[in-house]
Amino acid sequence: MSIHIKNISKSYRDKKALQNCTLTLNAGIYALLGPNGAGKSTLMNILAGNLLPDSGEILYQDGQAPAQNILKMGKNYRSKLGFMPQYPGMYPNFTVEYFMKYMYYLKCADKENKKSRTHGGAQTEITEILKAVELYDVRDRKIQALSGGMKQRLALAQAVLGEPSVLILDEPTAGLDPRQRISIRNYISQIALDKIVLIATHIVSDIEWIAQNVILLKQGVVVDFGSPHHLISKMDGKVWELKAEKEDLTEIQTHFRTVNLTQDEKEESIVCIRVLSDIRPAENAVCVGPSLEDYYLYVFGTET
Ligand SMILES: Nc1ncnc2c1ncn2[C@@H]1O[C@H](COP(=O)(O)OP(=O)(O)OP(=O)(O)O)[C@@H](O)[C@H]1O
Ligand SMILES: [Mg+2]
Repeated sequence: MSIHIKNISKSYRDKKALQNCTLTLNAGIYALLGPNGAGKSTLMNILAGNLLPDSGEILYQDGQAPAQNILKMGKNYRSKLGFMPQYPGMYPNFTVEYFMKYMYYLKCADKENKKSRTHGGAQTEITEILKAVELYDVRDRKIQALSGGMKQRLALAQAVLGEPSVLILDEPTAGLDPRQRISIRNYISQIALDKIVLIATHIVSDIEWIAQNVILLKQGVVVDFGSPHHLISKMDGKVWELKAEKEDLTEIQTHFRTVNLTQDEKEESIVCIRVLSDIRPAENAVCVGPSLEDYYLYVFGTET
């Protein structure tokens, strides 16, 4: 199973949101990283079939069968798809469980959802998912009475209904507290087996442990693509830590990109600085191991 994104471009009036995006997605978790306005949601809405591109096409390929345009596949594609939009609209008067049943019948009722039936049907699947996203205890609560984080988890829950083979999640952990973030992250990686999962975020820590591939989107252009390990290795020899007098900080920051700053534990007048630089930024600077966040900041710099 694979999805071929071929030369996709999209503009809103004169704003180019996507420019000639070309990518192939196979089974695995892909992180779509980029700052606000990079075009992540635009690409996801096109992949979900909710938005038409100005040019280019999205092809879906299953095994040895010929690739098909998703727009021509219609229901056949939608039945394989789970989509969590960035700003989902959910009926405020529905209870959590009723909403899940409603979404189940919209997604699964008119197709032979054999997998789901062998697992015991709608109710079992809904119960399992609600337990996994920790909403089972509030299943009788109306959506309007849920907290922001609960609504976020309900949006994820409806996306995974019907065991979709393509899962598109637009900022699934936005607004969650740290414990929920980790729990949702683990849940996504657990259900991702044999699926194409695309996760948009601008929070690197959300995906660096679970994504096998990272796509960097900058002003509508795919500027890099690769495994976290491959992207991190591009920063070898470019990340430095040094100590400096506080009064020299502004001078250092005008010459080098600072990614972290802490007060020295012993000396009040000293700061510890982490900078990105192709050359040694100061005599006392020590070259340290890079992280994915360093690479993200290297690529996006002041845009973030
Ligand atoms: N409906 C629209 N009408 C006009 N411009 C739009 C519309 N939707 C998006 N844009 C513009 O297209 C660009 C890409 O937007 P998009 O929402 O895809 O970015 P994003 O990467 O998802 O950002 P964020 O991280 O803030 O969610 C932005 O400049 C945005 O202002
Ligand atoms: Mg977005």
